[in-house]
Order: sequence, then C-alpha cells, then structure tokens
Amino acid sequence: MKIAVYSCRKDEIHLFEQYGKEYDAELVLSPLPPTKETARLAEGCTAVDIITTPVGRELIDIWHSYGVKAIATRTVGYEHVDYEYAESLGISVSNVSYTPHTVAEYTVMAMLMAIRKMKAIITRYMGQDFSLKEIRGRELCNMTVGVIGTGKIGETVIRNLSGFGCRILAYDVFEKDSVRRFAEYCSLDALYREADLITLHTPALPETCGMINKNTIASMKDGVVLINMARGVLVNTADLIEALERGKVAAAALDVVEGESAIYYKDFKYKPVGHHEMAILQAMPNVIMTPHTAFFTDEAVGDMIRYSIEHCIKAGSGE
Ligand code: COI
Repeated sequence: MKIAVYSCRKDEIHLFEQYGKEYDAELVLSPLPPTKETARLAEGCTAVDIITTPVGRELIDIWHSYGVKAIATRTVGYEHVDYEYAESLGISVSNVSYTPHTVAEYTVMAMLMAIRKMKAIITRYMGQDFSLKEIRGRELCNMTVGVIGTGKIGETVIRNLSGFGCRILAYDVFEKDSVRRFAEYCSLDALYREADLITLHTPALPETCGMINKNTIASMKDGVVLINMARGVLVNTADLIEALERGKVAAAALDVVEGESAIYYKDFKYKPVGHHEMAILQAMPNVIMTPHTAFFTDEAVGDMIRYSIEHCIKAGSGE
C-alpha cells in the first residue's frame, strides 16, 4: 500500500523507514504540510499520514478524487481534520493513542516547576542573582490538585501524583473505577472551589473551549496555579492574563496557547512573532511557556508513526 506522509520531520524519517518496512508499506515522505498545493503528493496513494495542519473540505475533495481511502493523523487530537466531511465521502479518519506517560510526566514536571518558581530561579541564576528573595515555593504534598479530564493522560497524571501525598480531586463526564483508587471525583464547581492547583486534560470540544475564563477563575481559590498541557482553546488567554496580573492566579505553566498553530514548531529567531498575549505571558516570571512539546519523547514519536501507519494499512484495506 502506498501512503503519502506529510510534514515529515528529519527526526521522523528513520522511524518511518523502519515501520514502513515492518508493515510492507510504500511511503512517500515529504517535509511539506498538506495543502491544496501539495495535494498531488497523494496521487496514487491509498492513505495519507498527517500531523497538525488543518485539513478542510477542499483538500479532502482533491484526495478523494485521487482515491484516498484513509487519513491518519499521528496525533491524539483530531480537531484539525474535518472528519465528518471525510467520513461522508467514505474516507476513514483515525488518530493515534501514544504513550500517556510523555504528557503525564511533563505535566508533573510543570507543576513542580510552577510551585517551586523555577523560571525565576533559573533566569536569576543566569544573571548571577543568587539571593532568596521571592523564590520561596510550596510543597505538592500539602496541596489539593484538581485534574480535569481523566482519559489516559489525566489518569496517568493522577497515578504519578499519587506518590506525592497530595489530595487529588478529579472531574470527567465519564468516571472510571481505576481513577477512584487514587482520586476523589467531584463536580467541576467543587474542583474549582477546592483545588490549589488545576491541570487540564480534556480535548478541544465545543463544551470545553474557553472553560477557563473570568467566571470560572473567579470561583477558584485565590493564588490558584493553572497547568495547561492539553489545548490552548480551553483557556481564555485574556482572562488568564488579567487574573495573573491581579495575583488571583499565582502561577501558570502552559505548553499550549490559543493561536499557537502558525507559530509553534517554527523558528522565529529573526522575525516578529506577532502574538501579543504570548509575549505578555512569556514576560511574566511566574508563567512557564513551552512550545507544545509535552508529547515529544522517543517513545511517543515511535508510537505516533507506528500506529498511524498501522491505521492507514487497516483502513486502506477496508478493516
Ligand atoms: C496531540 O497528539 O494531540 C498533540 O497535542 C501533539 C501534537 C500537536 C504533535
């Protein structure tokens, strides 16, 4: 089976070659993202393998005219693909489920960095300021952590946290017994009211977009710490900035931010980024910003490639 692989990074080539051989797939590897201009790469292919670039109707129509039967995104999130339209044309759309430890471990790291004021400690050290002013932190074991979303990643965060001795509150529309061993499910209102630190692990859905906003922030504890390793759109960025400026939110760690898609994974060393809210957040000593890298480990990249090829093969052959 022939598969067009879009947005293939240099660090992925070797893995695509390895899994392409294992699954007996002929791969057309391209560093270019999927667009109307690059659609032709999929001519003669049964499936396309993509990453984060939005894929809309026009592109899907072109691929459909070439006989493409499957679109596999090598990401967990799939909101960038108009999957309902693709499926209405008989094209199957799949996402992948890679190791949840990659994001879960990064989340715990971000929590600890936020409550131990690590950005200030590291930047001050670089300026040879070794004083102790303003860097006294808090201990996780004495905090109540609220985990919103207990899918694979949220559940793994909870398991990882269970060793720290903190109280763990959880919220999800689907509750799991495996989570109840380590955390107490409660309403979203109770979680907002009682948590000292809140971490988001929900997908971007119409119901979750903007769920962290001035109203929900107002119902949280003063000095709450917010962690978002999931999707930028879950947080109203302007409201978060306002709350950070007032001290209502004491610290934040954000691996994702609204409007990141044209910016993250590109090099802006010599050009203006043009995202004003990102610049404000980045300038705050109590806000840790990373460019959507929580997923990025050897294990997860291997899983992304392996499972996306597997999905192409299965869907392309009608499974
Ligand atoms: C996902 O897999 O959904 C992610 O968030 C990582 C991706 C942007 C590379």
